[in-house]
Amino acid sequence: MTDRKAPQSGSDQSIVASLQRLTQFARDMGHPASLPVIAGRILSSLSEVSRHSQGALYVFDRDRECFCQVVSQGQTPSIAGSPIVALNHPLVQQLDNHQDILDSYALTDSLHEASLDNTPGAQLATLPINLAIPLLNRGKLIAFVLLQSPTGPTVIPSHTMELLAAMAQNAANALDSFLLYEDLGQSQALMRRTDRLRSLETIAGGFAHEIRNPLTSIKTFIQLAPERKDDSRFIGEFGRIVLEDVNRIERLLQEILDYALYMEPQLTDEDLNEIVSSCLYFIQVKADKRGIKIEKDLAPELPRGMLDRQQVKQVLLNLLLNAMDAMSDKTGTLRVRTTRLQKADGAVWSQIEIEDTGHGISPENLDHIFDPFFTTKHTSAMNEGTGLGLTIAHQIIREHRGEIQVQSTKGIGTTFRIKLPSHQG
Ligand SMILES: Nc1ncnc2c1ncn2[C@@H]1O[C@H](COP(=O)(O)OP(=O)(O)OP(=O)(O)O)[C@@H](O)[C@H]1O
Ligand SMILES: [Mg+2]
Repeated sequence: MTDRKAPQSGSDQSIVASLQRLTQFARDMGHPASLPVIAGRILSSLSEVSRHSQGALYVFDRDRECFCQVVSQGQTPSIAGSPIVALNHPLVQQLDNHQDILDSYALTDSLHEASLDNTPGAQLATLPINLAIPLLNRGKLIAFVLLQSPTGPTVIPSHTMELLAAMAQNAANALDSFLLYEDLGQSQALMRRTDRLRSLETIAGGFAHEIRNPLTSIKTFIQLAPERKDDSRFIGEFGRIVLEDVNRIERLLQEILDYALYMEPQLTDEDLNEIVSSCLYFIQVKADKRGIKIEKDLAPELPRGMLDRQQVKQVLLNLLLNAMDAMSDKTGTLRVRTTRLQKADGAVWSQIEIEDTGHGISPENLDHIFDPFFTTKHTSAMNEGTGLGLTIAHQIIREHRGEIQVQSTKGIGTTFRIKLPSHQG
């Protein structure tokens, strides 16, 4: 049996070529890194298909309320001299009304009208623009491409016009999702900043509350000291308490300064297992002294992640020290496990579990452990805490776009679970 292919007519061939070009273009639109990159790909593809080697792409700028030039190509000094085009420019209005590609004939009127105008971008009127391609999203003009050919206006075949229109639609969709994604990123950053300010507010309020008691004791001491200066017992004992109070205020201040000074995470490519190991190395001596057994189970296939090494260390050390504090009145076991996680959307994450066999956390306290200044370590001098450790840990993990969870049973023990995104998946 012979395999026979039907001969393709000229128009079949051009349809196939158009489809191939469109498919290639759609592929080129995937996952661009920045606006100039996506704009550059759109401009060069439209210029190549229309055979107009010079031009520029303008994108609507919401803040400035005008169209701004993002990329240009070819020797277009006149287009380069028009970095912005006002919303009321006749060309913009014509593209908005017409919602279709304008060739040099259709463009004549709006450019003539603009030549009478002196708004920003009016100088476009003097350009020999041969083609204006709108990029529309749900009928809204989000960008446009202006093209010109050094040889002047040429007649563009209808099938090329159709291909250009399809590419423009594709480009508009890609550009719109890119801009939306960028907007989302900006809103998230803003939300994180607002969150931080809000928690700083809580911390400032909590700080005032926290230092009231030590301040009262210091004040009382200063008031009573002149008349009790010969009472060596009073001076000795009260003096020690006052010194402890001053130390506490100093520690609180330092914690708050660290928190306020805290900056955006400095992300570098890190091996989480290695960070975990270095934290465990750091606490090993303390654990040995207290008779605490450390069990380490690190996943060999753990993905690397973009992390702020110092911040992640700070989080892990606080969790490890909390776990050891919880086991201070009995020998116990501290289990540290890392696991590779596959999320439902296919993304690969890393998980760290820190499990102790300590006294556990009561259900009432469990709701408050991440609150600023929540601590049950007021009483023990050895382990006195500020109650900011978990607040800071929570904030750091959030800034890494990760999750922190806790499970605890009174009298049995506690497990903290941290999940961090990796760059795999
Ligand atoms: N593993 C744990 N087991 C039992 N209780 C815990 C554990 N981790 C945290 N907690 C409880 O949560 C409270 C808050 O912890 P957090 O780390 O924020 O502050 P802290 O340890 O008291 O002080 P510091 O600011 O020095 O860390 C602790 O005081 C303790 O009551
Ligand atoms: Mg702590």
